[in-house]
Amino acid sequence: MCGIVGYVGHRQALNLAVDALRRMEYRGYDSAGVAVVGKDADGHNAIHAVKRAGKIANLDDRIAEVGVDKFEGTTAIGHTRWATHGRPTDENAHPHLSYDGKVAVVHNGIIENFASLREELERDGIELVSDTDSEVAPHLLAQAYNEGDTAGDFRASALKVLNRLEGAFTILFTHADHPDEIIAARRSTPLIVGVGDGEMFLGSDVAAFIEHTKHAVELGQDTVVYLAADYYDILNFDGTPAQGNPFTIDWDLEAAEKGGFDSFMMKEIHEQPAAIRDTLAGHWDGERVTLDENNLADTDLKSFDQVFVVACGSAYHSGLLAKYAIEHWVRIPVQIEVASEFRYRDPVLGERTLVLAISQSGETADTLEAVRHAKAQGAKVLAVCNTNGSQIPRESDAVLYTHAGPEIGVASTKAFLAQVVANYIVGLALAQAQGTKYPDEIREIWNALEEIPDKVQQVLDTREDIAAVSRALGAVRTMLFLGRGVGFPVSLEGALKLKELAYIHAEGFAAGELKHGPIALIEDDLPVVIVVPSPRGVKLLHSKIVSNIQEIRARGAKTIVIAEEGDTAVEPYANWLIRIPQTPSIMQPLLATVPLQFLAADIAEECGNEDIDKPRNLAKSVTVE
Ligand code: M6R
Repeated sequence: MCGIVGYVGHRQALNLAVDALRRMEYRGYDSAGVAVVGKDADGHNAIHAVKRAGKIANLDDRIAEVGVDKFEGTTAIGHTRWATHGRPTDENAHPHLSYDGKVAVVHNGIIENFASLREELERDGIELVSDTDSEVAPHLLAQAYNEGDTAGDFRASALKVLNRLEGAFTILFTHADHPDEIIAARRSTPLIVGVGDGEMFLGSDVAAFIEHTKHAVELGQDTVVYLAADYYDILNFDGTPAQGNPFTIDWDLEAAEKGGFDSFMMKEIHEQPAAIRDTLAGHWDGERVTLDENNLADTDLKSFDQVFVVACGSAYHSGLLAKYAIEHWVRIPVQIEVASEFRYRDPVLGERTLVLAISQSGETADTLEAVRHAKAQGAKVLAVCNTNGSQIPRESDAVLYTHAGPEIGVASTKAFLAQVVANYIVGLALAQAQGTKYPDEIREIWNALEEIPDKVQQVLDTREDIAAVSRALGAVRTMLFLGRGVGFPVSLEGALKLKELAYIHAEGFAAGELKHGPIALIEDDLPVVIVVPSPRGVKLLHSKIVSNIQEIRARGAKTIVIAEEGDTAVEPYANWLIRIPQTPSIMQPLLATVPLQFLAADIAEECGNEDIDKPRNLAKSVTVE
């Protein structure tokens, strides 16, 4: 949560930092701000900070009011906020400045001992002007720099302060007396260094600087980086030398931009065939499923006698589908739990338990804590993740990367489908290792998976038909989603998308549960989406859902039926019928989800939400519990 950027080099830093913030805005948009290290009217070094509540557009307006020329300087830090401590106001926006105005700080995460630090500062007569936990940091740094054994030493002062902070954080310090330096640190939350030619960058992720350099260094846990224009130095919190992990970025700028679509989300929906294809790539050697990025030995895969899936939100829904696939293919029990609940009860795990931790960002705090808990109980953790080098894969025993590319829209689309595919790859690898499927059966499933990208494309090509449904529905107030079998997680995902994007009440149900309560919600003209299982699959399931559709129609519901081509039985009961290509039942979610993504985006527009990439109150990476 919160996006952080930094620049030290030879160019005007203001615009560079603000542009970088625009690419970080998906991480939070409660406020934005930058601090440039420059000169004051008398020619002395000084910090020039500007910040505003709301989106970066507000910051742009404020900069224009003040005048760009007031922000001369070649070193800057910036922040886009997702509020934790303190409301989204101008005062609570970052950067925060020290009492003497010489230190500027941006921070992502939570300083858990901020209350005692704040009390201490107040006892020293320092007045804090915000409600944030973050503001303690610049004051502490100014104190450390102005007095005592670290006086005048920026680096030693920063280390002293960092060792006093508890919690998870990424933090950047600048000091007016050190105009060509930034000191930054990370503990749990992410920070990447971009290495340019005579210039250095910092970002919560590489999108902050890919326009300028493809050379990056991933910082390890609990490390500090000292940056000047032409070199960087990595330290441990005790000041001893540490190593980073240099890598070359293989995304290009275009991938992080909209590519002609109105929103990142629309672009990402259309990228789903590629996301699936790229996630499958390299995991079939012609004979066998391979988990090449994975450190789990075949003996491990063979030994597991249960699987636990931990994840949040859409990733959790992808995990529900993992349960259907793995139990069916491997015949071992799969339990699934929202990550935020997992470690607070006492799940029974052991050496023969595989914990599948699914996360697009690899930063979700709830999932990360679940991973730590699982490891402490002796289970093996396999991460399914879309973000290279992020914390969850780093702390897991093994990782299977989804290759969906950067997902900027806060509502997950292509990353969700890529997760489902990755989960199926894990399921097949387990079935192969445990011998619960014959090689020819695995090959058949694999072949069907390889056909999915083209079939998703066929669904994308029906975009206009789906738009017509949303236009006819208009600004609905509530909507229900029903499914059976693998259609049930799809209905949950459809409802989540609609809540996130259109801010209306939406719920997904297992259609069989309807008569146990939810049917009381059905009233005249209530729109209900029904995800119909294939009639070529479990016949009973299909006929039961056809009855469910009739039951709700009889009570006045308007039905939007998602059914595969050739399923004529549903035709009489559909107000609108959305067709998807035929595919094996277990793969149907990869197709049925797509119209629901469009539906949510279109209804959001009908309801007046103009910025579907950044729904209110949400952030892309949820790095607080
Ligand atoms: O980065 P993660 O996959 O761990 O994120 C998990 C959820 O926060 C995420 O899927 C969220 O529910 C999305 N906004 C759903 O569209």
